[in-house]
Amino acid sequence: MPLMVDIAFILNGRAVKASVLASEPALTTLRERFDLAAAKLACGEGECGACTIIVDGASLNSCLMPAVDLDGREVVSVEGLWTEDGADPVQQAFIDLGAVQCGFCTPGMIAQAHYLVSKNPALSEDDIRRGLEGNICRCTGYTKIIDAVASAAHAGKA
Ligand code: FES
Ligand code: FES
Repeated sequence: MPLMVDIAFILNGRAVKASVLASEPALTTLRERFDLAAAKLACGEGECGACTIIVDGASLNSCLMPAVDLDGREVVSVEGLWTEDGADPVQQAFIDLGAVQCGFCTPGMIAQAHYLVSKNPALSEDDIRRGLEGNICRCTGYTKIIDAVASAAHAGKA
């Protein structure tokens, strides 16, 4: 019988509970127990950023974070950035500036970009490049992604 652990946390503004495997990654919890499939499993080793989420205001690789560590935390996935008013300004900048091709990296990229912009709205291009170093995109060549993050930062929004 696998060891299950009960956890409770805030997920995209809502108090939630789950019974998770002691060995379960947070990414699995979000995708399989809460149907939040935006964050992706790619490398599974903390190298690509496809699984990025925001926990207590910091960006984290959810493939490496144990689900049990979600207990008592405040978690935002890309799904939680979509509000009644529509897309979050960072998401909108990705749409407006065409910073998406296949879209596989996009949720992780947007979560990381949102974290960067919310932390420092005066981001320079160099800050953006360094801040996105852990997020790999195989399609876009990064130029449009960096332009989109800069646009959201210069608008002073996240
Ligand atoms: S899947 Fe988590 S960093 Fe690549
Ligand atoms: S848009 Fe395809 S991997 Fe980034």
